[in-house]
Amino acid sequence: MTSTIRPGEVFASAQDFDQGIRALVPHYDEMLTALSLCVPPTAQRILDLGGGTGNVSLRLLQRFPQAQVILMDYSPAMLAQAQAKLPPAQTTLIAGDFGEWALYPERFPAIEPVDACVSALAIHHLSDNMKGQLFRQILAHLRPGGCFWNADPVVAPHAYSAALYQRVRQACSQAHPLPERGQTQPYGYSAPDQLTTVAKQLDLLQAAGFVGVDVVWQWFGFAIVGGHVPG
Ligand SMILES: C[S@@+](CC[C@H](N)C(=O)[O-])C[C@H]1O[C@@H](n2cnc3c(N)ncnc32)[C@H](O)[C@@H]1O
Repeated sequence: MTSTIRPGEVFASAQDFDQGIRALVPHYDEMLTALSLCVPPTAQRILDLGGGTGNVSLRLLQRFPQAQVILMDYSPAMLAQAQAKLPPAQTTLIAGDFGEWALYPERFPAIEPVDACVSALAIHHLSDNMKGQLFRQILAHLRPGGCFWNADPVVAPHAYSAALYQRVRQACSQAHPLPERGQTQPYGYSAPDQLTTVAKQLDLLQAAGFVGVDVVWQWFGFAIVGGHVPG
């Protein structure tokens, strides 16, 4: 019987995530490196939304050995993997739904202002309306000059590029079998896939109050978009 998982957990067992995601997402490591490079070296406190097994936070701590990361995720199984991987003295784990946090931050442990917020492969599970709500909440938690960058799969703007993204992804997918996938059911504010275009994300970021919004990295159907708040 296939086990039921939450959107974003991807595999039936969280222990399989780190190996499986590299087979499923071409250029996963390059994308995470690019995401970590978006964070300025002066950052001391960084929020990682949908941080999963901790791969983004780990990269950030390798780049910034003095930093503190706050990782929020609603999956106990993914958080257990992150806990085993990240140094406790520099890590705060928050078990919770970032959609709920976007609407009701008072239900969560207080998060002091952060220098940067990042997310990878997670926010595309929210509706566009909730993405906008989340972007506003992120902005409210950033220090002046702080930035937000989101690495996520994106919808192609045209049918021609949709076919191209699909063809390239198939061509670049690794041949060896993936770990067992679970049966993803909607959970909290997330649903299996609610991808949007780069252009829509840029609009939502601008509407939330971010400036300098940009797409700084893209590999076919995966992009890093974000912006900052004035210093
Ligand atoms: C594909 S994993 C990516 C994990 C990590 N960011 C990485 O790139 O390795 C997506 C993560 O987002 C989490 N997630 C999805 N929707 C969420 C939500 N609404 N609130 C909190 N976590 C969520 C899932 O539990 C999962 O750990």
